[in-house]
Amino acid sequence: MKSNSYTIKKAIYSIGILLQILSINQQAQAQHKTIDQKVNAVLKQMTLVEKIGQLNQYNDDWQATGPVTLDSTKAEQVRNGMIGSLLNCVGTKRTRKWQEIAMQSRLKIPLLFGQDVVHGYKTTFPIPLAEACSWDLPAMESAARVAAVEASASGIHWTFAPMVDIARDPRWGRVMEGAGEDPYLGSKIAYARVKGFQGKNLGDTNAVMACAKHFAAYGAAIGGRDYNSVDMSDRLLWEVYLPPFKAALDAGAATFMNSFNDLNGIPATGNRYLQREILKGKWGFKGFVVSDWGSIGEMINHGNVKNEYEAALSAITAGSDMDMESRCYKNNLTQLLADNKINISLIDDAVKRILKKKFEMGLFEDPFKFCNAQREEAALNNTTHTANARAMAAKSIVLLKNENQLLPLSKNLKKIAFIGPLAKAVKQNKGFWDVEVPGVDSTFIVSQWQGLQNKVGINTQLLYAKGCDIEGDDKSGFDEAIAMANQAEVVILSIGERRDMSGEAKSRSNIGIPGVQEELLEALLATGKPVVVLINAGRPLVFNYTADHAPAILYTWWLGSEAGNAIADVLFGDYNPAAKLAMSFPRTVGQIPIYYSHFNTGRPATNDNDRFYNSSYNDLSIYPKYAFGYGLSYTSFEYSGLTLNKKKMKATETIQVSLTVSNTGQYDGEEIIQLYLHDKVGSLARPVKELKDFAKVFLKAGEKKTIQFFINQDKLSFYNQLLQRVAEPGEFELMIGASAEDIKLKDSFELIK
Ligand code: NOJ
Repeated sequence: MKSNSYTIKKAIYSIGILLQILSINQQAQAQHKTIDQKVNAVLKQMTLVEKIGQLNQYNDDWQATGPVTLDSTKAEQVRNGMIGSLLNCVGTKRTRKWQEIAMQSRLKIPLLFGQDVVHGYKTTFPIPLAEACSWDLPAMESAARVAAVEASASGIHWTFAPMVDIARDPRWGRVMEGAGEDPYLGSKIAYARVKGFQGKNLGDTNAVMACAKHFAAYGAAIGGRDYNSVDMSDRLLWEVYLPPFKAALDAGAATFMNSFNDLNGIPATGNRYLQREILKGKWGFKGFVVSDWGSIGEMINHGNVKNEYEAALSAITAGSDMDMESRCYKNNLTQLLADNKINISLIDDAVKRILKKKFEMGLFEDPFKFCNAQREEAALNNTTHTANARAMAAKSIVLLKNENQLLPLSKNLKKIAFIGPLAKAVKQNKGFWDVEVPGVDSTFIVSQWQGLQNKVGINTQLLYAKGCDIEGDDKSGFDEAIAMANQAEVVILSIGERRDMSGEAKSRSNIGIPGVQEELLEALLATGKPVVVLINAGRPLVFNYTADHAPAILYTWWLGSEAGNAIADVLFGDYNPAAKLAMSFPRTVGQIPIYYSHFNTGRPATNDNDRFYNSSYNDLSIYPKYAFGYGLSYTSFEYSGLTLNKKKMKATETIQVSLTVSNTGQYDGEEIIQLYLHDKVGSLARPVKELKDFAKVFLKAGEKKTIQFFINQDKLSFYNQLLQRVAEPGEFELMIGASAEDIKLKDSFELIK
């Protein structure tokens, strides 16, 4: 008996071990499953309601960035697996609360939290258009990195950025959100920003998913009116508007957002050509597409679908995976299936794309990995972020004018009058897409007044007067401002737009400096004191009086939380401004759209007297007020010695271009050297010049450096009539410029067969 029971015990023990090994094996196998296998395993268990739930994104009740639909059963829907993602839900406390509810659902599929982290999170960076003027790709990548570090620590998985829409109409309020008018610069910036947001690896705790938006051509809204239609040739679409999206994809952008506009009559949200054929087809995009806010339902207003049922059909067929806020998917996909209008494979594909990202983010392993309150506290109080924002802000300031080297100001001035409605403003510096971070007030934003105070020594007295408001015609503050100016050696005047005057739904037909601000400048100039003007804005404004009369102008845009310190750094020469405009500045609204890479036409105008020629209005110069690529420095640069290592190249070859840039002024500084090409004779007319490369170099005063560029087939290629990207043999003009207008050196070469 004894030996029998021993045998039985041994057998049980062995079976136990075996089971343990089997289970370890199973676990190991589970761990070794590819993400696709894991996605399929989850998908198999999902009911139709749960599948549709993954395609459904709601706004949290905290704040809104679009017209809200209130939903008292939100929590219950999350618990029932009917919501895949929330937007405008920020902070570890709030995201944890929602994720805990999601964990009560049958399959415990984690929620994704999305947010417009467009130019910083708690630490606000300059608006994207301002940053674009730095042409500093590592700096922009690092700005996006900081935003991701803060946002991810605050519960956010996914930013609705970067906006990569090319924009050539400054009436459109959303020009502030992109990288300006040029597809080459725009593509480089799109790439850098995606890398910055997503970091080394999706799945790292400090990486947020990027979202390239708005796909596509939203920036070309007719008349610059937000949400308006876009009518565009395929050639223009491929050549100008799509490249930054392709660059974002190449950088690994996890998601795309479609757009509000119709493109040639078909709303982008229901546009099969854009989403299925180009993005998911030709480009092989493996992430998912989210609609813009309510844009699925808005197709009814566009008028190409009758009702929400048809809207859902159109969007899902066209390749929109997630429905932001319209509820069309939630309310109609089941019926569409029952009616055999769609196949379940269409829904499965969208669900799989979304689940895949949730797996890649590591949320199935740990749904709370972004909800650590201590980490949030540390990230939001990290002083290196502030230093980063200050440097980025200084790099974004464009010196438009500096007569008689008025700037930089001496640190030994006795009295400075700081005047204007934006001098002491705090929140205005944050720009349009700042995020309301729970529990964080505005006290950390460095106003321009504070920045100046931080900079000047005890021997300098700062005088202040507001002078006038941003808007309105009240001049009652002028006298006080004039009195202050009269006492000072130098006047600094801070004027411009309010931060809610450029941004979404902020198109303006009059883009002058609002109110009586330019009249205030006129009054101050009449004192005979030198006046430095700071222009705060979210778009290129029209300000001819200021441009023609003020001796010094800094275009400061909206610079974010460190605005004051950065402006002071530039005013007093602790940073030598180097930024160059990423968008042409028009002389009048009537000159819009104006961009440097226009065609020559049959009657190219070469000067303002060419009246029977193109580009010329009878009442206006042919030139913009400030050209693309323009911006001054406190020092001066000379360009010389352009050499090409050969004058003929085959498509498989490369031409090496070299030149020398010398800093001939008194200050150390950076110069942005721009390389433009012009394809002289093509099967299609080609732009007069196109940016194809640039270099930003630092030169000590008196220093010179050799700069090299390489021309390859890609830089010579364009979309021909058949929309094939080709480089056609022939002559190319090569221009090296300090701006698109200020061409310093020229040569030419030939592409041969
Ligand atoms: C609408 C905007 O067009 C889009 O850019 C933004 O991401 C969403 N609202 C969410 O706020």
